[in-house]
Amino acid sequence: MNRTRIADVLSKADIGARLTVMGWVRTRRDSKGGFSFIEINDGSALSGLQIVADQDLPNYRTEVLKLQTGCAIRAAGTLAQSPGKGQAVELHAGEIEVLGWADPDIYPLQKKRHSFEFLRTIAHLRPRTNTFGAVARVRNAAAMAIHRFFQDRGFIYLHTPVITGSDCEGAGDMFRVTAFDLDDVPKTEGRAALEKDFFGGPAGLTVSGQLEAEIYALAMGDVYTFGPTFRAENSNTSRHLAEFWMVEPEMAFCDLECNAAIAVEFLKYIFSYVLEHCTEDMRFFNRFIDNTVLSTLEGLADADFERLTYTEAVDLLSKAGEQFEFPVSWGVDLQSEHERYLCEKVFKKPVVVTDYPKSIKPFYMKLNADGNTVGAMDVLVPKVGEIIGGSQREDDYDTLLARMKETGLNPEDYWWYLELRKFGSVPHAGFGLGFERLIQFITGMANIRDVIPFPRTPGNVAF
Ligand code: 4AD
Ligand code: MG
Repeated sequence: MNRTRIADVLSKADIGARLTVMGWVRTRRDSKGGFSFIEINDGSALSGLQIVADQDLPNYRTEVLKLQTGCAIRAAGTLAQSPGKGQAVELHAGEIEVLGWADPDIYPLQKKRHSFEFLRTIAHLRPRTNTFGAVARVRNAAAMAIHRFFQDRGFIYLHTPVITGSDCEGAGDMFRVTAFDLDDVPKTEGRAALEKDFFGGPAGLTVSGQLEAEIYALAMGDVYTFGPTFRAENSNTSRHLAEFWMVEPEMAFCDLECNAAIAVEFLKYIFSYVLEHCTEDMRFFNRFIDNTVLSTLEGLADADFERLTYTEAVDLLSKAGEQFEFPVSWGVDLQSEHERYLCEKVFKKPVVVTDYPKSIKPFYMKLNADGNTVGAMDVLVPKVGEIIGGSQREDDYDTLLARMKETGLNPEDYWWYLELRKFGSVPHAGFGLGFERLIQFITGMANIRDVIPFPRTPGNVAF
């Protein structure tokens, strides 16, 4: 089935060329002059192609006049300049073949605008809408930008396991993995006999590839992972998923400064790349979803991000005279409302916050000289809040061991992680970028469920 992608038809606009295109009908209009305009879209671009079908086509009355939204067709013909408004070119069809019908009485996607809530219930059809097509193309371009950025700088792309025995964030939000028959779990002294389970012990879906990435960074210098991660936290918010994609670079011979500099350069690179490669889709988001996304992303290309410590942030927030739902004081974790206040009201741009209290961060972060704070680094952006979480890693054996005990972890479970601090330990650092939160920030889409093809959230695992 030879075809030309509509994106290529539109960008080349090779008037007079004979072409075959295929796609799904968006609309059909019949003119009194005895011909029809059929707009088709094949997902390669936001814009569709207008097909002009003349009544002389052998199947004009039997088929063309019955085409409805959602039908799939093949059209072969000649590309011509379009005299009409709204498109530069159109295809004068010499042949139209119906590949698949769609009964208009039951096809759920009609020409009118549907709510995103409704579209979530038809995730098998929503990529055929303008918005979800555009999200898919921007996701694709952002993923490409991420690989480009790291590959151009010599980072090794590392594949870390999805099933793991260690809880990286130590937060206990892991989904359990088992091969037991849940109606007949083998027990020893009343408890599940995990030693008899598939892996011979507790296993779960990974919350982060960081610990394994550290192993490779301490051998290969600069590495990154880019894969799905899973969290069984029951947060039903517009920024949380149970399954999300995370990009995690890990760099040896790198401290917090170096880490923050790479994070900022990385984000700017992705923004510029998407602006350059998804011009039409970004204009669409700016027009229909959030009329600030273009100016925001363009402005960030050469703007500095704000930089402050957690202590300075708490100071600013407690003097803000603002009624927060969660009051701020030194030692409490920043909530999304605080993160957004800093970005949206105080600085009006992304903010890098460093040096959080050790009590609210995981065991692996480097303890600062004050003994109270750690070399953590979160990047916060307007509307979304935290988009990146990272840190310099604790590279001192004794300090790490003490932190594990302090946070209630069993050092035996992390023996290999500790051993890396015994043999050729070096300063190293890294961060995790939440890929869906990045796409939310870029597109302005308000709900994280609408920037991943098949969202997994509490109570939802359909499709
Ligand atoms: O801040 P987090 O928990 O950091 C880590 O997992 C580190 N191990 C990363 C590292 O240093 N290599 O998560 C990193 C990012 C967050 O900033 C956020 O953007 C995203 O992952 N994230 C989520 N995105 C969607 N749904 C969730 N439930 C998320 N939890 C975290
Ligand atoms: Mg975090």
